[in-house]
Amino acid sequence: MPKKLIDGFGRHINYARLSVTDRCDFRCVYCMAEEMEFLPRKEILSLEELLQVGTALIASGISKIRLTGGEPLIRKNIMWLIERIGALDGLNELTLTTNGSQLPKYAEDLKKFGVKRLNISIDSLQGGKFKEITRTGQLKSVIDGIHAAIDAGFEQIKLNSVILKNRNDDEILPLVDFARSKNLDISFIEEMPLGEIIEHDRQVTFYSSDNVRKIIDNEFGLEDSDKQTNGPSKYFKLKNSTSHVGFISPHSHNFCGDCNRVRITVEGRLLLCLGNEHSIDLRALMRGENADVETLRQAIEASMSAKPERHYFDAADQPQIVRFMNMTGG
Ligand code: GTP
Ligand code: 5AD
Ligand code: SF4
Repeated sequence: MPKKLIDGFGRHINYARLSVTDRCDFRCVYCMAEEMEFLPRKEILSLEELLQVGTALIASGISKIRLTGGEPLIRKNIMWLIERIGALDGLNELTLTTNGSQLPKYAEDLKKFGVKRLNISIDSLQGGKFKEITRTGQLKSVIDGIHAAIDAGFEQIKLNSVILKNRNDDEILPLVDFARSKNLDISFIEEMPLGEIIEHDRQVTFYSSDNVRKIIDNEFGLEDSDKQTNGPSKYFKLKNSTSHVGFISPHSHNFCGDCNRVRITVEGRLLLCLGNEHSIDLRALMRGENADVETLRQAIEASMSAKPERHYFDAADQPQIVRFMNMTGG
């Protein structure tokens, strides 16, 4: 009998987001500080340890794994891991969230190793603004990456855009138009208060998904859709198109009641919620004596009672989460 993971609120947990590196070739203003110190190598899980975690997650009842980062594709020898995780028995879906810059190099191999869906982040279609938002990114590398992914023939490609007021809110329609012209889906994400940034005041740049939705609906028309990816996105269908538009609105619409996921940070902490610090240290278990997959599996199962009911991104009296998104794995 395959195992099932059920938390203390009766939620069925079948999805894990595995951060494979805290490093990135970009420095997006909402995700990182300009000068970042990354973790020393010995503190992050090795590829072998990541594979062991993946194996234990699947043995626990996880059927969907998303690799994230940082930028997963800049981890050295990442394809070694992807090939092996992709081949594990019991995994229904292996997916990846990427900034796209390395896709010209890797898109075909990803497809070959069983990745069916890709999420690619893009917040601007104007070279100058793209550079301002990502600080070190080049728009062209991402556009080339998107084209490489389309050519490789993934079942689904979704673009992700974080909208910041007076920064890229004028790009909502061009981004939708771009997705539509290539038959891709696109999700708009509200910025989350993860990590201390000084580049902007998050309260000032907050732009609600409801606004984004109205703008798109007025221009293109949005229809209800029953599309579900087991994620927090609420999807609509774009009229006269095959593209879907999703909204990830952790501020304006709390979706914690349906949460089906856990995260593994780059240091091997099993993090039970993006917006809380409850976690268990899988790295310590793996590096201790008698480390085996069964020990990990039992720890994962036991952790379910510690999964918090919800996040409190919107409550002023709750402390801000100090870890950055790149540590956590989106
Ligand atoms: P699917 O796995 O296909 O549902 O994709 P996704 O849209 O959930 O994943 P992706 O990696 O593209 O993440 C898009 C955004 O959703 C990122 O900003 C994530 O941080 C955010 N996100 C994903 N899961 C959660 C969650 O459980 N809580 C919150 N607050 N945000 C989440
Ligand atoms: N708030 C919302 N989304 C964020 N991302 C990174 N940091 C944040 C944040 N603070 C997004 C990236 C990418 C996804 C994995 O997470 O743009 O699309
Ligand atoms: Fe890199 Fe993604 Fe963070 Fe941007 S949001 S700095 S692309 S990890």
